Amino acid sequence: MIKSIRARLTLWYVAVFSVILAVSGFVVFSQLVESRYQRLDSRLELAGRVLAASLKHEIEEHEGKAPGEASFRSVLITIHQLTFPAQAVTILQANRTVGQKPDSLARTVARTAIQESAAFTQQTNPAHWSEHGWRYSALRLSLPVHGEYMIVSGESEQETEREVATLRRAFLVGVPVAVLLSALGGYWLARKSLAPVVLISQTVESITSRNLERRVPILNPADELGLLAQTFNRLLERLGTAFEQQRRFMADASHELRTPVSVAHTATEVTLDQPNRTEGEYREALQIIDGQLRRLKRVVEDMFLLARADSGAVPLRPSKFYLDELLADTAAAARVLGEKLSVNVEAAPMEESLCCADESLVRQMVMILLDNAVKYSLPGGRVSIRLGRREGLYEIFVQDNGPGIPPDAQPFIFNRFYRADPARSRSSATSGGAGLGLSIARWIAECHHGDLRLLSANSSGTVFCATLPTSVA
Ligand SMILES: Nc1ncnc2c1ncn2[C@@H]1O[C@H](COP(=O)(O)OP(=O)(O)OP(=O)(O)O)[C@@H](O)[C@H]1O
Ligand SMILES: [Mg+2]
Repeated sequence: MIKSIRARLTLWYVAVFSVILAVSGFVVFSQLVESRYQRLDSRLELAGRVLAASLKHEIEEHEGKAPGEASFRSVLITIHQLTFPAQAVTILQANRTVGQKPDSLARTVARTAIQESAAFTQQTNPAHWSEHGWRYSALRLSLPVHGEYMIVSGESEQETEREVATLRRAFLVGVPVAVLLSALGGYWLARKSLAPVVLISQTVESITSRNLERRVPILNPADELGLLAQTFNRLLERLGTAFEQQRRFMADASHELRTPVSVAHTATEVTLDQPNRTEGEYREALQIIDGQLRRLKRVVEDMFLLARADSGAVPLRPSKFYLDELLADTAAAARVLGEKLSVNVEAAPMEESLCCADESLVRQMVMILLDNAVKYSLPGGRVSIRLGRREGLYEIFVQDNGPGIPPDAQPFIFNRFYRADPARSRSSATSGGAGLGLSIARWIAECHHGDLRLLSANSSGTVFCATLPTSVA
């Protein structure tokens, strides 16, 4: 089994090339050989026709068979001897030899050949055949009154065979040389065309998590390997972004976890510093620690949920429920939260809306939006929740009349651990968020094939819109 693609390509190339060369070589060789023999036959036929014309002419001119034949014989040994030096010629009538070209170069047509010719010419005129290294042609000439003559001409096949042998030699040497050259050329070509693959694999091999910014060189962006290199580069781009996000997530997460731990630790240290504390002081310290532990618990739960969401490990448990009722419930829960901050929470009247989704996740999503609306409103503010329906989607609008979100912060509010105003968010009486709420809410909307958008956020307030499909599975 050959492992290298280069060698396999070369072998395939050579195999296909050899077959093509062998087939076309065979066809060309056969054609050439045939044409050589056709040329020989044409020469013999021409000689036969000239002699026939000459015999006919002599008989007609001398107005008699015997004087005509005698005159023809003298023409045969003079003119025709020179015209057809390489051919042997015999003219017969029945078994009588009318004339024969005495030949030093050629030889007298063999007797067997003459008999053969008689048999042949029964069917064809002229007839051709080979015998003992000679090629023969026999032509019948019928002269009214004088009877039928047979002109047999022959020529040695030696010259033609020599030509054929030369051709065969040329093919036998030429074909292997061509195959060898094609193998070398094919290997060079395969090596050259696969060079970018080697380069790509070497570069990819050298890339680790530490140098994800490296890119595969693109030699020709238009060809297949250029496209492969571009695909690798896009993959590296995505990996780089994912790694960067992961790194940032880890840094932000450790920061978020460190703060409550160090606050609780400081509270414990300060309290234990002095041996005699009052109950009130211990209670106060424990309240601080409890607050930080709650915060820690929430952040850890949110991070855990996001981590499971990323790995696809949160199973959706869809069930049928009325979305209007769920919104009314969450609005009631948010109202309790709002009372503490003097924020009024209202739910607009909603018509019955049957929905099929993971109820507890949808509740969490709505609660995140209401929690933000209440948390970021000013005392005396108003928060409202409304349910709409459009093109197969439920639209949940959560609106407040708080201070809005600065335009430069708006693109980032769905990022993990992002807070538009960290100081204010954290000092918020309710929780001191970690900046994970909106990313969780968006993930919940998206895993239900819906989405979550910020519709508007200016000084007159903020509106978020979450959509969920109305189709009930
Ligand atoms: N209704 C709103 N009005 C004003 N700003 C908002 C509103 N909703 C979100 N934001 C801004 O978007 C940021 C991100 O919100 P998100 O809910 O993701 O985080 P958080 O509320 O700070 O923390 P968490 O939700 O994890 O407790 C918030 O810090 C806040 O600055
Ligand atoms: Mg929030």
